[in-house]
Amino acid sequence: MEAILKQGRYVIATLQPSFSDDELRGLCDALVAQVVQHRVRGVIVDVTAVDVMDSCATRTVRDIGRMARECGADTIVCGMRHDVAFAMDQLGLSFDGIATVADRYEGVLLLESRASERGAVAMGDGKVCVPIARSEDIVRARQLGRTMAGELGFSPRDVTLIATAISELARNILQYAGEGEIELSAIASGQEQGLAVVATDRGPGIENVQRALQRGYSTSGGLGLGLPGVRQLVDDFRIESTPGRGTTVSTQKWRR
Ligand SMILES: Nc1ncnc2c1ncn2[C@@H]1O[C@H](COP(=O)(O)OP(=O)(O)OP(=O)(O)O)[C@@H](O)[C@H]1O
Ligand SMILES: [Mg+2]
Repeated sequence: MEAILKQGRYVIATLQPSFSDDELRGLCDALVAQVVQHRVRGVIVDVTAVDVMDSCATRTVRDIGRMARECGADTIVCGMRHDVAFAMDQLGLSFDGIATVADRYEGVLLLESRASERGAVAMGDGKVCVPIARSEDIVRARQLGRTMAGELGFSPRDVTLIATAISELARNILQYAGEGEIELSAIASGQEQGLAVVATDRGPGIENVQRALQRGYSTSGGLGLGLPGVRQLVDDFRIESTPGRGTTVSTQKWRR
């Protein structure tokens, strides 16, 4: 398989477990040459096959990200195995702000959303507001949440928990209110850093909030696990709902 593949406005680099340190450096140089030559928008580093992400490999990915950024391109890592991410975390290694997503498809989606939909997202003071009105918006909200949580230094495991919570809240907005928004913001208290997620809609509201928070309660034939699940995943969970006026779910999660 070709290590570097150009696809439209992106280049995809596939890391192999057999790569030596020298081969990694070679790949990094070749990749940067492609970014410069084709003026690509983004780089996807596919690590699906990688079974060890040690300090050298991590540094290579960071270097790719830094050099691509200097050429105006974003970098995303896709396909990290859970055990590999866990080992990296144990070693204290991180990609230093480079977002990680499940697969190439999500990688392209995130690069697209960063490149073309930046205007649709209000940013400032470390706050991001994602309007929710279509099912693609659920994906966009959770990807942005993933990126922000990664940049805030959350562990890969917590990044996924946060993305999952955002996904549930965004889907509830779409399903029960039709539209609304997810606001993501970096929060700090003393030395602690965290991420606040606030889901707001002006939909029908919830008649009985206590009941809606019970596992298994659903008015739509769903699993009834969304809200209770989110409550369990975050550190602070508040819900305000007025029938006929709408619902606001406010959550906070702190970095450990
Ligand atoms: N934003 C909202 N506006 C109005 N009602 C809501 C909203 N979010 C949740 N609900 C109500 O709370 C119930 C429980 O929500 P929850 O997300 O836990 O389960 P679900 O959406 O029914 O199923 P699941 O999320 O497991 O697919 C919903 O069935 C719905 O009646
Ligand atoms: Mg739900």
